[in-house]
Amino acid sequence: MTPALQTLGLNKRFGALEVTRNVDFTLPVGARHALIGPNGAGKTTFINLLTGTLPASSGQIQLLGEDITTRRPDERVKRGLVRTFQVTSLFPELTPHEAVTLAVCERLGITHRWHRRTGDHTAAVDEALAILHRLRLGQVAHQRTRTLPYGQQRIVEVALALALKPRVLLLDEPAAGIPTTESAELFEIIAELPDDISLLFIEHDMHLVFRFASRITVLVAGGVMAEGTPEEIAHHPDVRTVYLGNAEHAA
Ligand SMILES: Nc1ncnc2c1ncn2[C@@H]1O[C@H](COP(=O)(O)OP(=O)(O)OP(=O)(O)O)[C@@H](O)[C@H]1O
Ligand SMILES: [Mg+2]
Repeated sequence: MTPALQTLGLNKRFGALEVTRNVDFTLPVGARHALIGPNGAGKTTFINLLTGTLPASSGQIQLLGEDITTRRPDERVKRGLVRTFQVTSLFPELTPHEAVTLAVCERLGITHRWHRRTGDHTAAVDEALAILHRLRLGQVAHQRTRTLPYGQQRIVEVALALALKPRVLLLDEPAAGIPTTESAELFEIIAELPDDISLLFIEHDMHLVFRFASRITVLVAGGVMAEGTPEEIAHHPDVRTVYLGNAEHAA
């Protein structure tokens, strides 16, 4: 089966600094794949290469079998490659329902007629509400986003990404900065997404990684140090020494 996403010999250099080194990566359809590694390992850079925010220095990126290496970021989004950010990027004064409706309208190409009550617009309003219910945000859909607990604000970001109908969803530390109790719920909600959305997520909390990932890639100094099931990664000798140290879950 054609992978959802694949990179072949992907490289990125900033001058003399190699931040992505010859990365061969495969994301099968339906995967829940974690990308882990120490600070500065190149995880966010790898996501930026996938989305096209940064051009690759060499190598290839394929989305559902299509070479997208030189496609613009918006062309990749249209093809179903969607991300969320490590740092929050919400419109705080809008309600989740307004913000997600705008995102649906953007996907449908009807942002410029936002003020008109067209049939398309009604459909967008309904679709946005359905997304918010799926993500357990139905109760707060009409409150200003800035008044919500930070954990729920991060879920609104996932809702905005879903509004773009992703085939592949890239999540850069979706739980960054939220309390552990809320981060577990965030990952439960993400885990309930349908299997036709393939997931690649960056996460530092190893408890969350080992609980929710089907496969794990360990990135160190821009290169893939190890890749495998959570079981394989937990027992990988290099991972234990270089990255996990004495982490108790690796037992
Ligand atoms: N635009 C840039 N120009 C020069 N160097 C950069 C640029 N962006 C990132 N880097 C460098 O690339 C390396 C990888 O950074 P990156 O942000 O991808 O790491 P990360 O694994 O996401 O780290 P963290 O866990 O802290 O989020 C770092 O050494 C960083 O300083
Ligand atoms: Mg990062």
